[in-house]
Amino acid sequence: MGWGTLITRRLKVFSLALFVYFDYKAVQKRVQWVSAVKKNAIWAKTHERNARRVLNLMIELEGLWVKMGQYLSTRADVLPEPYIEVLKQLQDSLPPRPLEEVCGTIEKELGKPMRQLFATFDVDPLATASIAQVHRATLEDGREVVVKVQHDGIKEIILEDLKNAKSLIEWIAWAEPQYDFNPMIDEWCKEAPKELDFNHEAENTRTVSKNLSRKTEGGSGSVSSDVDVLIPEIIQSTEKILILEYMDGIRLHDNDSLEEYGVDKKRLVEEITRAYAHQIYIDGFFNGDPHPGNFLVSKEPPHKPILLDFGLTKRISQSMKQALAKMFLSCAEGDQVALLSAFAEMGLKLRVDMPQQSMEIASIFFRQSTTATEAKENIKALNEQRERNAKALQEKMKLNKKEVKHFNPVDAFPGDAIIFMRVLNLLRGLSASLNVRIVYLDIMRPFAESTLLGSMTRGPSTNSEWIYDSPVNSEVESKLRSLLLEMGSDKILGLQVCAYKDGKVIIDTAAGTLGKYDPRPVQPDSLFPVFSVTKGITAGMVHWLVDQGKLKYEETVADIWPKFGTNKKELIKVHHLLNHTSGLHNALGDVVKTDPMSVCDWEEMLDQIAKSTPETEPGSSQIYHYLSFGWLCGGLIEHASGRKFQEILEEAIVHPLHIEGELYVGIPPV
Ligand SMILES: *[C@@H]1O[C@H](CO)[C@@H](O)[C@H](O)[C@H]1NC(C)=O
Ligand SMILES: *[C@@H]1O[C@H](CO)[C@@H](O)[C@H](O)[C@H]1NC(C)=O
Ligand SMILES: *[C@@H]1O[C@H](CO)[C@@H](O)[C@H](O)[C@H]1NC(C)=O
Repeated sequence: MGWGTLITRRLKVFSLALFVYFDYKAVQKRVQWVSAVKKNAIWAKTHERNARRVLNLMIELEGLWVKMGQYLSTRADVLPEPYIEVLKQLQDSLPPRPLEEVCGTIEKELGKPMRQLFATFDVDPLATASIAQVHRATLEDGREVVVKVQHDGIKEIILEDLKNAKSLIEWIAWAEPQYDFNPMIDEWCKEAPKELDFNHEAENTRTVSKNLSRKTEGGSGSVSSDVDVLIPEIIQSTEKILILEYMDGIRLHDNDSLEEYGVDKKRLVEEITRAYAHQIYIDGFFNGDPHPGNFLVSKEPPHKPILLDFGLTKRISQSMKQALAKMFLSCAEGDQVALLSAFAEMGLKLRVDMPQQSMEIASIFFRQSTTATEAKENIKALNEQRERNAKALQEKMKLNKKEVKHFNPVDAFPGDAIIFMRVLNLLRGLSASLNVRIVYLDIMRPFAESTLLGSMTRGPSTNSEWIYDSPVNSEVESKLRSLLLEMGSDKILGLQVCAYKDGKVIIDTAAGTLGKYDPRPVQPDSLFPVFSVTKGITAGMVHWLVDQGKLKYEETVADIWPKFGTNKKELIKVHHLLNHTSGLHNALGDVVKTDPMSVCDWEEMLDQIAKSTPETEPGSSQIYHYLSFGWLCGGLIEHASGRKFQEILEEAIVHPLHIEGELYVGIPPV
């Protein structure tokens, strides 16, 4: 490939990028003053116009750009619809290379003329992809095969394209700092050249095939981690040629055939996801490129997935495997300490210690997959959430405007984690484009658990260290401790027991660990969430204020808390709150459903509850206020006393009982 061509490629890429960029900037200006309906129409047209420009250049340039387009076309959850529609065409076929070129490559690589190699050879390729095309053929011995032939000269082009893509991404990161794809492209630069050696791919295919067919022995009676997929056998390979067993399958985007053969799409995507969970969590060796073009479905029932193309396959270390499993499970359990420890094990450096925000970011990757239409709705909510998060971080760090623009909460994303997220995103895209809904957490959990449990050296349950070493207060406590040892760590994860008799402590025992994935020992002063037990404490604080003369049971709540006096809540009295008869038993239920994290925002929840409407007349029926009780009493307490909830808690309960540092309502100050 001459310099002239390489430079032309670069010029084309950059002029298109500029063209598209200015088109969007111009439209952004233009739509400022038009109506919403018109605005949407203008944007739709702009997207479509530019998607076509991008598509045309990708087809013209082939190579890496096609790969990038394929990746983007699977992200129905991120890109505007017109892009998905237009770029989808890249998953089909590109124009094939001429037959002479193909035969030339085969004969040169295998050192024999075509007629000695194959009994039949289909002139029209089955498919043409970015770096190779595949032809159906029959070997001399009658075996049906597919022959994958690398495009002539593609290696130089890809290596050059990577350089261009890198400059382009640096340029984007400079012009629009909130879009920094550098970590993604760096990982790609490292991995892409490996795809250009088919010997490498042959070896990878054999490894994955062996790994996936290995039956898990025994199993602890939980969900099986065996997977049921097909991978074609490798017959021969050279650097530029790969000969594989032929498998008759349906392409995933061929919706009509999928319907005709009665393929269960949900089961299909689930089985593919299971195969990936196995590769990632059990084998630590996985295909990093699960785009829809790399799968077929067997025509024979039970219609198993066929996995193709292991060019981009990633090996991860034992410790990374465990860290990814831990990250996954800690999200599933909502365990923030475990999540941060997983991040640390991965080498992920977070600039500030904000477990709640980290959890939100990480959970996004594992949320239930959605259909394309819902994905669009969700992405809006997600963006809003992300903006809120970024704001919170920036306020906490007191950044100025310029720093805000360049702010990135994650300092160093390790390459392994990026490939992992890319795989999850591609799988998510797969279910979006097939319009099925799958629950990642449920499907992947058994695989991640088996990795983590297999590596956990579970201490013998009779180990005296399993119980926290503290003095034994009574005979009944020593009996309790022997009973605990008997039950052991199989039955008990972690616990605290404390009992008083006649004002004296008779039991104060702690044992086990803090969480399934959090190995710290439980100590007598370890904090646990106690959920509705705090209702008694909150009610106690109201009674304390009544004793202090700050409040009367017969008083109207709105007299104390004026904002509360809306929507018929003017009738609610203090005693209605205390005995669950206010009619606000379902209040906040909707808020929590749409934005679960909002429960962490005390002021926001007080605002919401002040706006709520009772469902029954105050005093008429007693229904457990499972969720709203704390904020109802909390708002009352703060308004009656003119002080913060935590201050009253300390004065009324914590100090008199000498339990400083052992009782909080809400997240303890760090
Ligand atoms: C997967 O294959 C690789 C390479 O043969 C091997 O090192 C690894 O142990 C296999 N994993 C499992 C879980 O068998
Ligand atoms: C596939 O075809 C079925 C039946 O015609 C239709 O209901 C479904 O919406 C189609 N799915 C997609 C993703 O186009
Ligand atoms: C709730 O408390 C009020 C005031 O003490 C009392 O009149 C009412 O009977 C109580 N309601 C129930 C259901 O216990």
